[in-house]
Amino acid sequence: KGKRAFIAGVADDNGYGWAIAKSLAAAGAEILVGTWVPALNIFETSLRRGKFDESRVLPDGSLMEITKVYPLDAVFDNLDAVPEDIKTNKRYAGSSNWTVQEVAESVKQDFGSIDILVHSLANGPEVSKPLLETSRNGYLAALSASSYSYVSLLKHFLPLMKPGGSSISLTYIASERIIPGYGGGMSSAKAALESDTRVLAFEAGRKNKIRVNTISAGPLRSRAAKAIGFIDTMIEYSMANAPLQKELSADEVGNTAAFLASPLASAITGAVIYVDNGLNAMGVGI
Ligand code: NAI
Repeated sequence: KGKRAFIAGVADDNGYGWAIAKSLAAAGAEILVGTWVPALNIFETSLRRGKFDESRVLPDGSLMEITKVYPLDAVFDNLDAVPEDIKTNKRYAGSSNWTVQEVAESVKQDFGSIDILVHSLANGPEVSKPLLETSRNGYLAALSASSYSYVSLLKHFLPLMKPGGSSISLTYIASERIIPGYGGGMSSAKAALESDTRVLAFEAGRKNKIRVNTISAGPLRSRAAKAIGFIDTMIEYSMANAPLQKELSADEVGNTAAFLASPLASAITGAVIYVDNGLNAMGVGI
């Protein structure tokens, strides 16, 4: 019997979330996605018009099916937390039930349970500013969208998750090494995400037998990464300096997520798994 996955953070076919959805679908999972509210319309329209059909092709030739797309804004836990200007914002008013709690409730109503939870989202409004120039609001916004969003998602989806289930997020090595340019508190947000992965692995493991891991991925030319502005430099740096001198494909991260979600990884929890052509192991660029 196939497993069911909810993947938060899919809004086009370029990012890690899409690749993870494909790898899970190829392994037989049913796919539900959570799409950021402001990106929902264009994503659903593109999906309907067949714009993603080429990238929906799975290794067996069939097309990945997304059973349902849920609008989501992972910065808001419930309706009480939503400020008036967002409630009345045109892009938000067109959708409903997009807070974390409401999405979890909708998934529960629609499907009853899930086996796999994926968090593939991040946002840092001041990412292009050095940490020394980051405002308190910018820093807290990065942590809210990129770190607490995961705590909140797991908290609300945990009651829907079957024992033996698996939860995965995406992190970046800027959490532990200096990556100039990954600013605005985003490096701090990834450090929090990795630390939380360990604590959440303990809590969700003891309470619900759920495994919690994070994938530290190498550079990918996603929409979010292009917005940061130095992604091509990072890809070139990795190609030049990593033990494996090849471009990283999103599928390689997707396949690792499928492994982590499977019984093959039944003893792996609380881990940061590097999928970066080995770049993390280098001490100097050479
Ligand atoms: P992406 O643009 O495909 O994914 C980011 C998603 O987050 C987008 O779909 C965006 O709509 C969504 N999002 C932003 N704020 C949101 C909110 N408040 N609520 C719900 N959704 C929201 O880009 P990418 O790069 O695939 O990012 C996925 C994850 O991978 C992120 O955690 C990112 O930090 C991580 N990562 C990316 C690397 C890269 O080089 N692209 C390297 C290492 C980690």
